[in-house]
Amino acid sequence: MKLALKVTEIEQLSPLVKRFRFEDPAGMALPVFSGGAHLTVEMSERTEAGEIIRRNSYSLISDPYDGGGYEIAVRREDKGRGGSLYMHTKVAEGDEITVSVPSNLFQLDLRARKHVLIGGGIGITPFLSQLKQLDMEQRPYELHYAARSRDEAAGLKLLPQAAHVHVHISEEGSRMDLGAVLDGQPLGTHVYTCGPGGLIAAVADQAARLGWPKASVHSEAFTAPPPGEPFDVVIASTGQSIHVKADQSLLEALEAARVEVEYSCRGGACGRCHTKVTACDGRILHNDHWLSDDERAAQQDIMPCMSRFKGARLELDL
Ligand code: FES
Repeated sequence: MKLALKVTEIEQLSPLVKRFRFEDPAGMALPVFSGGAHLTVEMSERTEAGEIIRRNSYSLISDPYDGGGYEIAVRREDKGRGGSLYMHTKVAEGDEITVSVPSNLFQLDLRARKHVLIGGGIGITPFLSQLKQLDMEQRPYELHYAARSRDEAAGLKLLPQAAHVHVHISEEGSRMDLGAVLDGQPLGTHVYTCGPGGLIAAVADQAARLGWPKASVHSEAFTAPPPGEPFDVVIASTGQSIHVKADQSLLEALEAARVEVEYSCRGGACGRCHTKVTACDGRILHNDHWLSDDERAAQQDIMPCMSRFKGARLELDL
């Protein structure tokens, strides 16, 4: 389901990150969500080659219980497909924007006795709504936010000043000590990590070393699809050939050609867009976090939201 909303506020949070607030144009309440949810923003642009529709998913950073508006934070990626650049340079207060209803792939496990949230860089975003939920429901938590410099720490402006909110700026010599963060937490604590792959892996390693059960360790790794060289795919059921442009994801190209593929995260993490490959003469460039190493090597599966192709022929079971 899609919502046509109005951009009511834009704020520069750091040199590269802007906050956007969307509200219903008639002031109607929006569907509430749970901490960690995301929505997909639709960006339509007229170019010489025709209309391009990009869809990027962003974590909601606003209060999950506030139906008055949705807020997201967008980091400008100059080398990306153009979605974040569009948000930074083309979207103005007062514009209308189409978004999906929120969906959550990174929920808090409410059976936990305590929640430890660890965010790196722009990976702080899902925690901004989670900590509002945790505060509201009066659940015990602590949050650790790591960034290289204050300029990169866009979340600083949005975090409450509280004893259980810890900021680690490595340029200032306050690197996060994961051993100290995870050791000694009460039994039944869950840890959640969002940020660069290295941080997610380091938290998982440290938790395993300390004997944390796997079910208590959560992470969110979805990222924006990368641009790349153009390529073509063939739809097995119809024989239709579809061209994927350099600044388009395979999923966006399929959507533009009205070939329906399910999706949610659009960042290679939820598995919803999993598509079977019926013929592959070349190499699939797997950029997702979903397929196993064996599945990648077999080249019989692809996640169209993230992955690309290099070679003579790629045919999809669609
Ligand atoms: S839409 Fe989630 S993995 Fe592709």
